[in-house]
Amino acid sequence: MTIMQEITTDSDQRQPIITLQGITRSFGPVQALRGISLALKPGRALALVGESGCGKTSCARIIARMDRPSTGDLYFRGRQFTSSQSSEDEKTYRRAVQMVFQDPFAALNPVFTVAHHLARPMLLHGHAKTRSEVAARVAALLASVDLEGQSTAGKFPHELSGGQRQRVNIARALAVEPDVLVADEPTSMLDVSIRLGILELLSEIKRQRNLALLYITHDIATAAHVAEEMIVMFAGQMIEWGDTRTIIAEARHPYTRLLLSAVPDPDRPFVPGESVEFLRHAEAIRKVSRDASAAIEQIGPNHFTRSVTL
Ligand SMILES: Nc1ncnc2c1ncn2[C@@H]1O[C@H](COP(=O)(O)OP(=O)(O)OP(=O)(O)O)[C@@H](O)[C@H]1O
Ligand SMILES: [Mg+2]
Repeated sequence: MTIMQEITTDSDQRQPIITLQGITRSFGPVQALRGISLALKPGRALALVGESGCGKTSCARIIARMDRPSTGDLYFRGRQFTSSQSSEDEKTYRRAVQMVFQDPFAALNPVFTVAHHLARPMLLHGHAKTRSEVAARVAALLASVDLEGQSTAGKFPHELSGGQRQRVNIARALAVEPDVLVADEPTSMLDVSIRLGILELLSEIKRQRNLALLYITHDIATAAHVAEEMIVMFAGQMIEWGDTRTIIAEARHPYTRLLLSAVPDPDRPFVPGESVEFLRHAEAIRKVSRDASAAIEQIGPNHFTRSVTL
């Protein structure tokens, strides 16, 4: 059985919008991605979880078509889209797949108003034509990310808080009515107090618009808030994947259990039975997690891991 078949064994039978199959990406000697397979489906969120440098952004860039894989395949609505397509098809893809970046400050141009940031993609992709159409859609978009339209539209980025800027970035991504939203660590540069609000907004938008959401994070606890499915990555590989709740409750791979044991909530330890002895083995865990030859094991209907022994 290929990994691809495995990841789509969940009960949801909807046709994926985007499918990656055995994607690798090397930068010289660095193997940033080693065999990533996943499916993004309408109305569903998939979390990509792992520590810094494990390959999350490399994967997001391939999905956003800002980069190409070294090997492996990308499908868009079931069609092979790995190599360059006609400019018309590329445009369709770029509209359908929108990205929200980590840094809400760098993503907005300081010399343009909020309204300008939202109107531009709309006009570019023909979603609005007249001035009044644009104004109405800008107001509706701001409302959909819980920003007050009248007061926000004319503001410049520096007049907004970090959370408000990230909401504008989300609104901008929605301006072209995408099918897929890729959110690469959308809250890691924001104050802790406002992170949950942004994650709830993403979940809400996913539900209302039937969007496929790829949520990228180093924080396995937030993945549980947002995503029905998750992939835990380590050193460019998928090491445990499937149903989020199942993985949180019954993590099998030692690296996943290490991530869970590091969740900073003393009242609700995710892995209560984990011993101090286990945590001392962090280095050994990382070493076995790197193993590219580890066999894939199916544990449950939608729960897979690479089997390793410590
Ligand atoms: N353009 C590039 N040129 C060379 N190496 C790269 C390039 N992009 C990524 N890498 C390397 O690929 C690996 C994966 O990087 P990537 O940015 O995908 O990780 P990440 O999981 O997003 O990390 P972070 O949590 O810090 O954002 C790293 O070793 C990184 O140094
Ligand atoms: Mg990254």
